[in-house]
Amino acid sequence: MQIIETVDNLKILLNKFKNNTIGFVPTMGALHAGHASLIKKSKMENDITIVSVFVNKRQFNDQNDYVNYPRTIENDIELLNSLSCNILFFPENNDIYKNYEGCKIDFQGLDKIYEGEFRPGHFQGVVDIVYRFFQIINPTNAYFGAKDFQQLAIIKLMTKQMNLKTNIIACEILREKSGLAMSSRNKRLQKDELEQAPNIYKIITQFSKNINKSDKPSIIINDITKAIDKNSLLKTEYIVFCDENSLKTIDSFKESKNIRLCIAVWCGEIRLIDNLRL
Ligand code: PAJ
Repeated sequence: MQIIETVDNLKILLNKFKNNTIGFVPTMGALHAGHASLIKKSKMENDITIVSVFVNKRQFNDQNDYVNYPRTIENDIELLNSLSCNILFFPENNDIYKNYEGCKIDFQGLDKIYEGEFRPGHFQGVVDIVYRFFQIINPTNAYFGAKDFQQLAIIKLMTKQMNLKTNIIACEILREKSGLAMSSRNKRLQKDELEQAPNIYKIITQFSKNINKSDKPSIIINDITKAIDKNSLLKTEYIVFCDENSLKTIDSFKESKNIRLCIAVWCGEIRLIDNLRL
């Protein structure tokens, strides 16, 4: 695997692969099996796979979260080597954002709801960095996890609005045996928090299985919130039922055939997100 730290060096290297398909997996590092599943898919579907590891300050609304975000580059390199990743792009803030104005799109309100309501500026930061990567790499295919469901929808919107040719490939959520969605932030959970965090998925799957079309979403949301918040270390921030394609909140389960439950829960000091298809 080649490790490249500057935009200029990556551009020089990519010149050699003009006639190859390029798969790109953007990450913030602290890699786990969820990231690995995206990388494996990219390896299968492209000639060359590039993974970026960059903790993107612009997308952190909470500076404490930025400072404490796990950074495990040695382990990341080991995992990437074991997956036969071709190129690791590991840039610095000043280099990647040099002479770059950012990416302006019409979010159509998607940056203000759900995650956007609680993390102001977050999606602008995500779009800024992903567009910058796409400008430099011009990947054939780029891989994103459904774990960050709203991010995936916004990246699709950005790609369309900026007329990019890159295919956005959605990948399933990988979970621990306990059901807890894998996340770099799980590395920061204390032992007692790790015992309670899997209850989020347990509770949302249990409730989702028993939903009838005639139930009221707001009542189910209340019931799920109560069940989750009974756990001493868990505090629900929001739960929403929305249409999978438009992300519009639904007020009745009859409103859409493709409904997703999206949730954010604080587990101690750590904010966890998850989602599932009804
Ligand atoms: P990060 O949280 O490192 O995630 C990188 C990619 O891995 C994202 O597409 C995310 O959805 C996916 N992923 C994370 N956990 C997963 C899981 N349990 N199962 C499947 N996929 C999973 O998302 C980001 O970084 C950043 O916002 C980024 C897109 C890199 C821009 O900075």
